[in-house]
Amino acid sequence: MKYETVHNLTLPKIGFGTWKIGGESSPNPKMDSVSLAALRSALELGYTHIDTAEMYAAGHTEELIGQVIREVHVKREALFITSKVMPEHLAYDQVIRSCEASLRRLQMDYLDFYLIHWPSVGIKLEETFWALNQLVKDGKVKHLGVCNFDVKLLKQSQALSATPIITNQVPFSTSDRSYVKNGVLEYCQQNNIILTAYSPVNQGHFRINKTLESIARAHSATPDQIALAWLVLQTRVITIPMSFNPVHIKENWDAADIILGDDEMKQLN
Ligand SMILES: NC(=O)c1ccc[n+]([C@@H]2O[C@H](COP(=O)([O-])OP(=O)(O)OC[C@H]3O[C@@H](n4cnc5c(N)ncnc54)[C@H](OP(=O)(O)O)[C@@H]3O)[C@@H](O)[C@H]2O)c1
Repeated sequence: MKYETVHNLTLPKIGFGTWKIGGESSPNPKMDSVSLAALRSALELGYTHIDTAEMYAAGHTEELIGQVIREVHVKREALFITSKVMPEHLAYDQVIRSCEASLRRLQMDYLDFYLIHWPSVGIKLEETFWALNQLVKDGKVKHLGVCNFDVKLLKQSQALSATPIITNQVPFSTSDRSYVKNGVLEYCQQNNIILTAYSPVNQGHFRINKTLESIARAHSATPDQIALAWLVLQTRVITIPMSFNPVHIKENWDAADIILGDDEMKQLN
C-alpha cells in the first residue's frame, strides 16, 4: 500500500467506498448479507479507510459498517472513518444532530473525517463551519473536509475552518477530468489538501480504451487496476473504489502497488 501524508496525518492511497452498501436512497434488507460480506472482506484484507455518509441507504450503510467493525474486532484507532452531512442538514443544529446520529449508527464516539457532502444552496457556509468547528472542539470529529467544492468554495472553507481542511472529495477517473480542468486538483496539490477521487472506475461504466488495455497487459493487471494505479500515483490523490465482489476488492487493494512508468503515466494523462 502507498500512503499520502498531510498535516501529520497519513492515509492509505486506497480506501473503501460504501455507496450502495445496504441499499441506495433507502435501506434494502435484501442487500444486507452481500453488503456485510463485502465490508468483512475489505476489513480482513487490511482496508483501513472506510468512506460513508448519512445519505447512503438513509443511514443503514453506517449501521452495517458499525456491525462489521464490531464483528471483526479491528481496533477503532487503526481505522479512518469518513462520514458526510447531507446538503439538507447544513444549518447549525442539524449538523450537530446529523453527526451524533451517524456516531450512534456506527457505534463510535468519534469520526476521523466529517465532510460536507454537497455545497448548500440556502445555508451560509459560515453557519455550517460554526457547527463543524464545534464538533471538532467537542472531540466528536477529528478532521474536517468537503466534497464537490470548486476552488472558490475551497478557499472560503479554509478561511472558516478552525483546523486544516484535510480533503476535497470529487469525481476523478480516467474518464472524468472535470476537477482537473477547473483547477481543483492543482489547488489541492499546492495547498496540502488531499483530493479523494470518487467514482474512480466510473461507477462500473468504465470506458476501456486501447491504451488502458495494453498497459494492463504489460503489468498482468486489469484495466480497472491500471486506472486506480494512475490515480494514486498522482501527488495528493487518494481514492475509495466500491465493490461487492471480493475479487475486485482485492484487485483494487493491490492496485496501489502497481508502478507505472513516466511514459505510461503520460499516455494515460
Ligand atoms: N462525495 C460524493 O459526493 C460521492 C459521490 C459518489 C461516490 N462517493 C464515494 O465514492 C465511492 C466510490 O464511488 P462509486 O461507488 O460511485 O463508484 P466506483 O467505485 O467508481 O464504482 C463502483 C462500481 O464499479 C465496480 N467495480 C469496482 N471495482 C472494480 C474492479 N476492480 N473491476 C471491475 N469492476 C469494479 C463495482 O462493481 P462490483 O460490485 O461488481 O465490483 C461497482 O459497480 C462511493 O462508494 C462513495 O463512498 C462520494
